[in-house]
Amino acid sequence: MALDRIRIRGGKPLSGEIQISGAKNATLPLMAAGLLTDRRVVLTNVPKLDDITTMATLLAQHGIAVEPVGNKGRTLSLGGTISNTEAPYDIVRKMRASFLVLGPLVARVGEARVSLPGGCSIGARPIDLHLKGLEQLGARVVLDGGYIDARVRGRLRGATIVFPFVSVGATENLLMAATLADGRTTLVNAAREPEISDLAECLVKMGARIEGIGSDKLVIEGVDRLGEAEHAVIPDRIETGTYACAAAISGGQVLLRGARIEHLGATVRALQEAGVEIAEAAGGISVRRLDGLHGADAMTEPYPGFPTDMQAQFMALMAVAEGAAMVTETIFENRFMHVPELNRMGARINVHGASAIVRGVPSLSGAPVMATDLRASVSLIVAGLAATGETIVNRVYHLDRGYEAVERKLAGVGAEVERIEG
Ligand code: EPZ
Repeated sequence: MALDRIRIRGGKPLSGEIQISGAKNATLPLMAAGLLTDRRVVLTNVPKLDDITTMATLLAQHGIAVEPVGNKGRTLSLGGTISNTEAPYDIVRKMRASFLVLGPLVARVGEARVSLPGGCSIGARPIDLHLKGLEQLGARVVLDGGYIDARVRGRLRGATIVFPFVSVGATENLLMAATLADGRTTLVNAAREPEISDLAECLVKMGARIEGIGSDKLVIEGVDRLGEAEHAVIPDRIETGTYACAAAISGGQVLLRGARIEHLGATVRALQEAGVEIAEAAGGISVRRLDGLHGADAMTEPYPGFPTDMQAQFMALMAVAEGAAMVTETIFENRFMHVPELNRMGARINVHGASAIVRGVPSLSGAPVMATDLRASVSLIVAGLAATGETIVNRVYHLDRGYEAVERKLAGVGAEVERIEG
């Protein structure tokens, strides 16, 4: 699997329907929430992705079995008793979202030992806000041998936590921890991503008391225990935006089945400014390129601003737009790894600090390319759809972490895309 490649022959306008999967970044915290109860949590609309398998492996070694229900693999049942509170380096290193077990473990059993994730290709990505918040809830947190050792005698205690800037992961970790704390916790300047609301809604089904869902101030009244719940994961808004860019760059028209336009935030406006028609339609969202593509600026921001997870794909689109576009990355310090690869395909992109100037070119030309993170990799597929000749995207394992059957979904709407094994 790790050596698989994706081959794209560009130039075919996409046409038809693409089924949008459940959101990876909603499913991962929802799975971690399974640690908060000894009752069964059933998740439906789960995407089939390597990151989900990694989280299932991590939970299993904590004592929570993650089992498929039925034969479609989209429903998972989580249940068991926590038997081990250590999240080992070998798993956390593979997937940073493993760190989301910290808050639930400490809240539930009073201790956790979780490997520090370390840096990653898109930036340093510290976890100081997670740790500081947990300390404010009464945990003692020490660093020991590359591991975070957090413990509390008795229960965590509710507190007011003011985030100095928005963090998705810290909001999720502390929201989960606060559900079982003694008293009231207020999270100020909390992240408002749809994945946070999805998590909060599942926690409420489990018996948590949370107010302010969808806003930047979450108020949680701790309860003694949480119970069972069944919850359908929201559709993946980043997968949605990615296929919207794919349809637009190919000059085609697609229906993104199951997608929700209200979750797309500023992605809608950016695409519209670029000359793409995107609108709610029966069963999902329809996307159609109007005449030509125009350069449109985008700056990444916390939700509902333009998502950092859409920046690379939008840049690929801007690479063939008429005029220039300025794309600014404010969330991660090293998230332009796709730029040299896009330039190898004939794009004209210059990076100045946190901004990239994209001067649109009439066409790209296919090339062998590779990238070291998920969204950068998929942006090269998007670019390949509009390139002349053949594009080979190497290191597909990044894609398999976050895009379910990308080659099948694209081939299903007429793209010439295939996986070359091994
Ligand atoms: C989540 O990561 C997503 N991952 C990322 O998606 C996404 O890019 C990111 O949010 C921003 O939207 C998951 O949901 C599993 P953050 P997360 O904490 O939670 C800094 C993808 O491609 N920071 O909101 O790790 C951090 O370094 C992935 O699917 C601290 O300094 O992101 C970054 O600059 C990639 N200290 C900024 O905050 C902290 O304690 C926002 O990060 C925490 C974060």
